[in-house]
Amino acid sequence: MTAHAALFDLDGVIVDTAVHHFAAWRETAAELGFTLADRDEELLKGVGRMDALRIVLEIGGVEVDDATAERLAAEKNARYVEAIASITPADMLPGARDCLEALRAQGVRTALGSASRNAPMILDGLGIRDLFDAVIDGSVVTEAKPHPRVFLAGAEALGVAPADCVVFEDAIAGVRAAKAGGMLAVGIGDPAVLTEADAVIPGLHAVDALASHGITFAGAPAPATEEISA
Ligand code: BG6
Ligand code: MG
Repeated sequence: MTAHAALFDLDGVIVDTAVHHFAAWRETAAELGFTLADRDEELLKGVGRMDALRIVLEIGGVEVDDATAERLAAEKNARYVEAIASITPADMLPGARDCLEALRAQGVRTALGSASRNAPMILDGLGIRDLFDAVIDGSVVTEAKPHPRVFLAGAEALGVAPADCVVFEDAIAGVRAAKAGGMLAVGIGDPAVLTEADAVIPGLHAVDALASHGITFAGAPAPATEEISA
């Protein structure tokens, strides 16, 4: 397929913040008296803040009331925000900026589709807000991945049909969201984990490898001009 729009997840695709999310959740677990295993990180990727808390509590077999849940999520977020406060353009994952710039130079439209309510702050820290035609984040959309809303809203904002969009995602929940929205899903990471993706590459630095999977990009064709008959 030839895509006219590229939709990007943020955490784990453009910037390596996943490590900070997981470290902050590990502290939550420690406070509650249990430990998160390395493999638990995959379960927390891509899902919204409160859904992630629910998963953490389930792993620990801990039940809390709503007020405590709100407090735990706020405390986790405060730790996370502190960790990413000093983010700079040097923290972008390899190839991310080049990929965005190359696609835009071809006339391909770009959108961010992130579950994170911290996305605007991160985009500003990285200085890449102007590389997106639309930014859809966790404060704009309430239905969390694997619901396709975040990507459907992105496609709509770009004026491109879902079938003409490619989504770049590092999370199982995000790949499912893209597929549920009728888009092509490119996994970023391990093919053994992202089994539902249409193709998997190790990072945006390897985006050219997609051509061998039949995935290419081109600017949206100009609207046909009506012929004037005499
Ligand atoms: C996603 C992360 O991008 O954002 C998840 O992959 C995270 O791990 C989610 O839970 C929500 O982020 P935030 O910044 O709103 O707590
Ligand atoms: Mg992600």
